[in-house]
Parts: sequence; C-alpha cells; structure tokens
Amino acid sequence: MNLSRRKFLQTSFFVGFAITTKKGWANKLPTQAIERRDLFSQGVASGDPTANSVILWTRRPPVKDSLAKKLVVEISTTPEFKKILAGGTAHLSADSDWTCRFLAKDLKPNREYWYRFIDEHGFASRTGRTITAHSKESDAPVRFTFVCCQCPNEGALNAYRRMIFEDEAKPKDQRLNFVLHLGDFIYEVTWYAEDNPNGNRGRRIRNLYKFPQGRKVSNFYLPVTLDDYRTLYRAYLEDPDLQDARARWPFVCIWDNHEFAWAGFQSQYVAGGGYNAPAQNQKVFANQAWWEFIPAMVQQPGNPRLEHFKAPAVVDTPMEKFNEEGLSEEPNNLIAINSLKIQRVLRWGKNVDLLLTDNWSFRSPDMSSDDFNVPEYPRVFPQVPSEIMDYGKHYNGDNPPATIRFNGKDIPNPTKEVHAQTYLGKEQRQWFLEQLGACTARWKIWGHGFGTMELRSDYQNLPGELGAKWPKDAGYAEIDNRFPRDREIIFDFIRDQKITGFCVVGGDRHAFHAGLVSKDLPPKKFEPLGVEFITGSISQQTLFEVLEVTMKKDHPKRVLHLIDQPDGKVIPSMNVTALHGVLSTLKLKETGDMEQARAVRNPDVAPHLSLVDFGGHGYGLVTATIDQLSTEFVCIPRPFERSDRSDGGPLTYRVVHRTRLWKTNEAPKLEQEILEGDPRYCI
Ligand SMILES: [Fe+2]
Repeated sequence: MNLSRRKFLQTSFFVGFAITTKKGWANKLPTQAIERRDLFSQGVASGDPTANSVILWTRRPPVKDSLAKKLVVEISTTPEFKKILAGGTAHLSADSDWTCRFLAKDLKPNREYWYRFIDEHGFASRTGRTITAHSKESDAPVRFTFVCCQCPNEGALNAYRRMIFEDEAKPKDQRLNFVLHLGDFIYEVTWYAEDNPNGNRGRRIRNLYKFPQGRKVSNFYLPVTLDDYRTLYRAYLEDPDLQDARARWPFVCIWDNHEFAWAGFQSQYVAGGGYNAPAQNQKVFANQAWWEFIPAMVQQPGNPRLEHFKAPAVVDTPMEKFNEEGLSEEPNNLIAINSLKIQRVLRWGKNVDLLLTDNWSFRSPDMSSDDFNVPEYPRVFPQVPSEIMDYGKHYNGDNPPATIRFNGKDIPNPTKEVHAQTYLGKEQRQWFLEQLGACTARWKIWGHGFGTMELRSDYQNLPGELGAKWPKDAGYAEIDNRFPRDREIIFDFIRDQKITGFCVVGGDRHAFHAGLVSKDLPPKKFEPLGVEFITGSISQQTLFEVLEVTMKKDHPKRVLHLIDQPDGKVIPSMNVTALHGVLSTLKLKETGDMEQARAVRNPDVAPHLSLVDFGGHGYGLVTATIDQLSTEFVCIPRPFERSDRSDGGPLTYRVVHRTRLWKTNEAPKLEQEILEGDPRYCI
C-alpha cells in the first residue's frame, strides 16, 4: 500500500464530527478485520455529498459482552480495500445511541468510494459505497431517485430492491448519483398486532418493535421519549432493502410529518383519535433521533462543532397565541423548533441546485372552520371557503369578506382577523427566495415534502341525483390544495425574477402526479412556471387502497373514486375525476372505455396535470442534463409482502416525462412517453 496516499480527514468547522486526527495513525497498515454485520445491525450509510466530501454513518451498539468505544473509518477507491485512500477515527457512546457521523473530506468530484468502520476488536461493518457530487464546472448529467413514505412494519420495501436491481444493470456512467428521501422515513404512529388482530386496514402488522414507553391512543401508540423515537429508526434500519439502499448510494433527506407527529405543527402533537397536546419535548426528541440516524449536513444553531446533539431543556407548554405569520412565540416552542435546522442547498455541477425546506416546524395552526364541510362528499373540500380561510386576513389583497356565501347562506368568516396559512413560515420563505434567486444551475430543483400542485374536480358539474348536494357557491371540489398564499408569493417571485428550469419534486401524497406548476388554475390565469413531480409511496397505503378497504360498496358517491368491475377488480376512477372531471368518470363507468371518457373531459379542471395515480407505489427517477430534465415514474404493485425476486417483484408501469430547458418568457412543456406497462387510468 502506498502510505503517502493516505490522508487524514478532519473535523469540519461546520458540522463538527467526531473525528480525531491522531498522530501516528497514518503509519498503521490497513486494518485486518472480520466483517460482523450482527454488530452493526443498522448497516452503514452516507449522506449529503458535495464535490469533495460526504458524511459516513454507522451504529455500533454494545452487543452482549462486546462493547466498542472507537471506530476506525477506512475509505478506498475499490470495494476490496486494496488501497486505503483515507481514514480516521470516531468515538462511540450512549449519548448518541452509539451512532457515528464522520465527514470524509478531500475527495474527488463525481467518484465512487467504498468505506467501512472497524471497531477496536477488529470487527468490521459491511462495506458501503458512496458517490461525491459533480465539480462546479461539470456539465455531466445528474441522476437521482426521489422517494417517501416507507413503513416496514406494515409493508415491504420492494421499491428499493428494484432500484438497486436496475441501477446495477446500468452502465457505470448512467447510474444514480444519490437518493433524495422526502420524508416519512419513519411512521411514528404505530399499530401493535395484539390490539389489531386483523391487521391495519388490510395490512399485516409485523410488530417489528415496541416503544419502551409509548402512549396508547385509540388502537395505536405514539412515541413519548427520546428512546421511543430512537426505537423507530433502529427497527426500520434493520430492513434489508432499506439497508442495502443506504449502503449503495448517498441519501439526501428531509423530514415530513411522521418523523415527529402525524398531523403536528411547530411543536404541537396532533394525531388521530382526537389526540392534541403541546409536545416541545417530543419535538426535540424527534429532532435528536433524526440527527443521530440520518447523516446530513445540518446544523444545530449555536452548536457548530457538535459531536452529540445538544438537547435543549424545554417544558411542554400550550401555545396560546400566534403572531402575524402564524408562529407561536412561546419560548419553549421557539427553542424546540429551532433545535435543528434542516433547510439547506446542495449542488451538482452546472446542472442541479437542490433546495430543501422544512415544511413542518414553522407551519401555522389550521384556523379554518368545519362550517364548510360537505359530509356527503368524502375526501374533498369546497374551493371558495377554503381559499378564503387559507388566506386569512390577506385574502383579496388584505381585504377579506366579513361573511362567506355558502349553500345560499352567509356564514361569518372565521379567519377575517387571523394569519394566512403557511408551511414555510416567514423567515424560511424569505431564506428560500434568496437561495432560489441565487441559484446558478440550469435546473433549480426543490425537494418539497408534499409538492405544490392543486388537485381538484368539477363537482359543480355533476348531473342529476349525484350533483344535488354539492353546495352552491362552493366552486370546485378540492382534493389537495395546500397553502395557496405561500405558493403565490413564491411563484410571483419566479415570474418576476424570470427564473427558468424550476422543478419541484415531492412526496407525502402516496400518489404519483406529474404536471406543470402555476399559481392559479382556470377561470383564473393558468401560467406554467415550472414542472412538478410527486412520487408514490415506497410502501405506505395509497388512498385508492384505503378507499377500497373502507368505502361502502353502496356509497352514493363511490363512482367518483372507485368503479367496480364484474370480475371484482376495481378501477381507480379517482384519477379520472381529478384529471378530466366528473363527466369523464361517469362516461368511464357507462362504457368502461378511457378513450370515450377522455372525449368528454373538462379541459379546465386540470390543464396542468399529465398523470395522476392515487394507487401507485414506487419511486421517481430524475435525469438532469444541459438541455433536458426527464422524470421516470417506476410503479410497482402494492407491496404487501417482501418479494423474493432479485428485481423486487413485478413492475406495474414505467412512464417518463421530459421537459426541455425553457428560456425566459417561454412556458415549460411536458412530453409523456409510456415505456412499460399500462397506466391507462392514470393519464
Ligand atoms: Fe406518508
């Protein structure tokens, strides 16, 4: 071995990893080691690559009598570790639940590296592979997959197996650079098999873990302590497919809701079963566990050289007041939500700037009223009142109405005096605009928990009996339309600054969507400013699956979501309702034929959408080049059980959308091509 090539890797001033630069280490020979995966049962991982660095991660807990306090890290350009390129040491302790983060520096851009961890007894982790980002000047294509929503406790992570299988089959220069995980890496809400002997809505419960403490609500449990949150990550990371994926590619991660609380906001815990409680402590625990198990270039403000997460002391305190921007200034809340900042920007050469936001920690409380619910129509809400309530006192240019006309009555506007709904919060929104404005890459890609695109249908056009109860003055039926004011501010900025190459990649919806982003839809001005792709979940239940299990066969509005066929199969007509409107869905029910259904579509419902699938699982694959961005949706069947096939099981479809890089004053356009399978009810 050429010892002169061995370099020490130093602690970053920014992230502060547990790395020492001991004299004499460089003169040691490569470590003789025996691979013992049982001692590193959460595997290895890498995260947040730059052109010359990447964070390496493992966990080596005490196992029986075998306690390790120190790890040697070895990095090589070959999987056999014939030559050691670099290395260092890291310390382990219970303070970080025996996890370790190590910043590998001085690497070359867009290169493969292999790494492993060896404890003081000579026991080694499995070998991990990682890839650095492109150099600043590079025009080379950037390839990554984006994923979300995985739960090995109630499904199988076959999508990762397929991703690995396909990547291994590709020529070296066409392999993935990284995996972008958009959150719901864990599901904190947990159903135990003993309380749910028939499973959870048709899913088999594996009972992979029990919370050391936990809190029972209804028929499920929520985490309470730091150890409860750590328990989730430990159990999830024992999944073989997730573990293989983390060992193969660097992951770039943000959290969605379930890393902290099902339907929480700021530091409030909100969950099903009517659970709603201040949870400043749990927010800090959730942040700490995420930091410990997800290798990421993220910062604890005021603690730039941390080796361990410094958990601030907080007291669970009700948030009683919210300021102009929907933020609670209750001191414990501010401490908890600022205990870790994950918003950041990563870059891959001249093609990709990746902007990442935290869509939950600064989210305003929902001030809308149930007075405008339409119980006859499940899973939708009326457009007009919800827009007024979303904008709060900023509606209609800061001139909201005193009452809202709904179903022929004037109902007092409950949000006339309150803040608009926001998920970014004022400070982060400002940060995002500054970062976006400063982007120089051709493609400005926003890794966004849940995406910005509106989904709706024209229930106002329902004929006869079916239409009888859609309220007058309600406008469209909104299926998904979140935070229009944040969207307006951001999209106005993109238009005014003449930003091109804007692309959103999202998750959370447990559905595939592809389309163009626009501040408004008809009858307001439809003005595409970028492209957006939402990926289906890795494994968590889709809305189609949930409705199949829970919606009554004789529900009068069933046709808008599901169409039963004579052979017992069910068509996800909910896709058609969102893409083409209600008349297309009724025509599909009558004829069974998508072409006839499309022939009567309402072009105003969704001029922005080119694919909607409320029933698909899998992942998205982005390729960004100097003049084109393409996104492949790789859709697999419901992952009830782990596939024993090396490709992870069958494929449902593969559809690609391509867009050429548009110029200032041009509108982006999407081209669709079906590569495999039959997505006929999704387009
Ligand atoms: Fe999810």
